[in-house]
Amino acid sequence: MSFSRFATRGLRSVSRRVPKSLTQQSASYSLLAARTAAVAVKLPQRAATQSVRGMKTLDFAGTEEVVYERTDWPLSKLHEYFKNDTLALIGYGSQGHGQGLNARDNGLNVIIGVREGGESWKQAQEDGWVPGETLFPIEEAINRGTIIMNLLSDAAQSSTWPQLKPLITKGKTLYFSHGFSVVYKDDTHVVPPEDVDVILVAPKGSGRTVRTLFKEGRGINSSIAVWQDVTGKAKEKAIALGVAIGSGYMYETTFQKEVYSDLYGERGVLMGAIQGLFLAQYKVLRANGHTPSEAFNETVEEATQSLYPLIGQKGMDYMYNACSTTARRGALDWAPVFEKANTPIFEQLYQSVRDGTETRKSLEFNGRKTYREDLAKELAEIDNQEIWRAGKTVRSLRPDSQN
Ligand SMILES: NC(=O)c1ccc[n+]([C@@H]2O[C@H](COP(=O)([O-])OP(=O)(O)OC[C@H]3O[C@@H](n4cnc5c(N)ncnc54)[C@H](OP(=O)(O)O)[C@@H]3O)[C@@H](O)[C@H]2O)c1
Repeated sequence: MSFSRFATRGLRSVSRRVPKSLTQQSASYSLLAARTAAVAVKLPQRAATQSVRGMKTLDFAGTEEVVYERTDWPLSKLHEYFKNDTLALIGYGSQGHGQGLNARDNGLNVIIGVREGGESWKQAQEDGWVPGETLFPIEEAINRGTIIMNLLSDAAQSSTWPQLKPLITKGKTLYFSHGFSVVYKDDTHVVPPEDVDVILVAPKGSGRTVRTLFKEGRGINSSIAVWQDVTGKAKEKAIALGVAIGSGYMYETTFQKEVYSDLYGERGVLMGAIQGLFLAQYKVLRANGHTPSEAFNETVEEATQSLYPLIGQKGMDYMYNACSTTARRGALDWAPVFEKANTPIFEQLYQSVRDGTETRKSLEFNGRKTYREDLAKELAEIDNQEIWRAGKTVRSLRPDSQN
C-alpha cells in the first residue's frame, strides 16, 4: 500500500473547502501556537536578539538570522489573506499530497492539476479531490488558479514549461518548492514571465513528513525565498503560503542557496554519503569474518535505533557522553580522520552542484519516459544488497516487532 493511501485513509470524509475537521485542526493549530510560544519562552536570553510577533532574529552559533513563525498567522488571518485566491497545486507527488491536504484542511480554496488518468490522478481521487470540482487537467487548473504551485517533478517542470508558461498570466503568483527550475534556467529553460511574483516555500523534509507533522499539530521547518517581486508583497505571500501548507518555522534564503544546499545535502550525509559509509563499514566487517547480523548491528541498527536519535535530541556531544569512555576515545580520534578524508569529496560534490552537472544528470534521468521503472530497478538493487537483506531479519527481531 502506498503511503498516500495509508496516510490519508482517515481523511476521505474531509469536505472540500472548510472541512469538518477544521475545528479540530484549529485546536491542533492552537496547540502548536502554544508549543511554539513555550519554545519562545524557553529560548535562552542570548539566543533571541530581537523579537517581534511572528518574526525573530536569532543567534545561530554567532550568526544572526531571521526566522518567521506561524503564530503570526492565525487561521482567520490566513482565510482573510487568501479569500480571493485559488491555490492551484500542479503535480501530486509527495509534496503535492502533503501541501495540498494541509492547505485544504486549513480551509483554503485548493485545486489540484495533474495528468488525467495518470498515477497522480488516481492518488488525488483517493485523497478526496473530485474531478471537475477540485481535480483538473494541468492546463485547466492553471487557468482556474491565482497562485500556481508548481509541484511537478523537477524534470517535468522543465519539459512542460513551454506549454505552461503562456498560462501563467499577469496577476498570478508562481510558487515552487525548490530553486531547481529557475536557478538552473540554462538547462531547464524555465524563465518565469516578468509580470508575476515568483516565490519559494521548500519544506525541509519529505511531503510525508509535511503531512504527518501537520496532523500532529506541529509544523515542518521550511525555507522561504523570493525570485521576483512584482507586487511588493512577494515575501509576505511566501510566508503566508508557508503557513498554509503546514510550516512551523520559516527560514529566509535565496532560490540559489536553497537549491545548492538541498542538492548537496541529499547527495551527501542525508542520503548518498550515508549509504556509501554504511556499505563501506559493513563490507570491511564482512571481509574480516564477521557475520551479517553482527556487521549490520554495528553499522546500521545501533546507529538508527540508539545513537542518531540522541544526536537529534541534544547534539553530538550528548551522544558521545552517553557512550562508554572506550567508545568516546576512539570516536574522538577517528572523527578528524574521516573529516579529512571526506572533505575533498564534499568539495567535489559542491562543485558538481554549482556547475550544474548534478542538475543535468537529474534532468536526463528523470525526464525519461521510463523514469519510474528505471528508478525502481536501481532501488531494488540496493534492497538486494546483503546489508539490507540482513537488516530485514534484524528488524524482525526488534522487541516491538514481537509484540
Ligand atoms: N519529495 C521531497 O522530499 C521534496 C522536499 C522538498 C521539496 N521538493 C520539491 O517539490 C517538488 C515536487 O516534488 P515531489 O517529490 O512532490 O514530486 P515528484 O515525485 O518529483 O513528482 C511527481 C509529480 O510529477 C508529475 N509528473 C512527472 N512527469 C510528468 C510529466 N512529464 N508531465 C506531467 N506531470 C509529470 C507526476 O505525475 P504522474 O503521476 O502523472 O506521473 C507527479 O504528480 C519538486 O520541485 C521537488 O524538488 C520535494
